[in-house]
Amino acid sequence: MPHFGDYQFDIYRAGLRGVLPTLPVDFATLEARACAAMPPFLLPYVQGGCGDEFTQTQNADAFHHWGMTPRMLVDCTTRDLSIDLFGMKLPSPLFMSPIGVLGICTQDGHGDLAAARASVATQVPLMASTLSNDPLETVAGVLGDMPGFFQLYTPTDRALAESLVHRAEAAGFKGIVVTLDTWVTGWRPRDLNAANFPQLRGHVLTNYFSDPVFRAMLASPPEQDPAAAIGKWASIFGKVLTWTDLPWLRSLTKLPLIFKGICHPDDARRAIDAGADAIFCSNHGGRQANGGIAAIDMLPAVVAASGTTPVLFDSGIRSGTDVIKAIALGAHAVGLGRPYAYGLALGGAAGAAHVLKCILAEADLLMAVNGYPSLGAVREAGCQRVAN
Ligand SMILES: Cc1cc2nc3c(=O)[nH]c(=O)nc-3n(C[C@H](O)[C@H](O)[C@H](O)COP(=O)(O)O)c2cc1C
Repeated sequence: MPHFGDYQFDIYRAGLRGVLPTLPVDFATLEARACAAMPPFLLPYVQGGCGDEFTQTQNADAFHHWGMTPRMLVDCTTRDLSIDLFGMKLPSPLFMSPIGVLGICTQDGHGDLAAARASVATQVPLMASTLSNDPLETVAGVLGDMPGFFQLYTPTDRALAESLVHRAEAAGFKGIVVTLDTWVTGWRPRDLNAANFPQLRGHVLTNYFSDPVFRAMLASPPEQDPAAAIGKWASIFGKVLTWTDLPWLRSLTKLPLIFKGICHPDDARRAIDAGADAIFCSNHGGRQANGGIAAIDMLPAVVAASGTTPVLFDSGIRSGTDVIKAIALGAHAVGLGRPYAYGLALGGAAGAAHVLKCILAEADLLMAVNGYPSLGAVREAGCQRVAN
């Protein structure tokens, strides 16, 4: 059983030799460091969200109105954070949510590969975005035996969607995450004020530019006429998916199919009826719609509607405590978003791995102190809504 909490002893022991952690262990300091270090074409895109960012702020703040009650005199010498996901045994419920600009979060332009290396180092699975600076096959190559998932932005062209899914299957990804909330980009004032949208500058489009179906749509290859290729990408990026498309999506793959962006219990039920293997409750970190309800507050109803189908969750996770609260509220696995992108930007693969290790350590130590030896015990203890 991994003792994730021991990471604190590594830090304290290094301190005895006069060595301080190169990156902070808490989100607030991490974000402040990222703000000082990340370039202006990138920071607002990563840090910002939709509208006045109320939903984005609520996502994180809402964890404060959920509380857990400690139990005493329980043997928590070892904690079991492992989960079974689609028949795979994973050491913890944590995963890296798909982030489309990882590629440009590192200065070498290979942030997707650095994220994959962080995944291997920590055994925290990566959901690789369609928007990537390296082809999905190369990302899968770095992951090796470490299970990863491919996140699909469904293009308007069905043949291209099929090609992307089949490439992901052939590359060895273990599931397809279809993001439902992003056929068009939400209203993002920070990006609009800077008139900056990385994809339109040619970033993170390698999965398209390397795709035979996409290339066949172009008069000249992207290497010869990048502007035309970017224009074609913009015209085919997002398909408006409706319920009638789900049988087609289901038919594309035998891999587990996960629908990301589901926040309403009725949508969860209907997606499961249509063949979803998992529901992913997320509001895209408040980047898409400024709808006002924190994702964590929508989780319990989605879990209740999903029955035995696993529910994945992200949006607003900033600490290991948040992870455990999401588990207590019924999530099967929990995704980290912006924090690991900041770690990546500040310290490459090692920086992202540090952030993941800190989250796992805090989660593990919370379970140790609160008397929860397993995730089952966390769920049994539950989480109460408290006034604040
Ligand atoms: C910069 C950035 C890019 C993102 N790109 C994608 C993407 O390509 N595909 C996707 O499904 N979600 C994407 N997301 C959403 C994340 O998967 C996740 O839902 C979100 O980050 C959770 O919110 P949080 O980071 O505030 O916790 C992106 C998020 C950020 C911050």
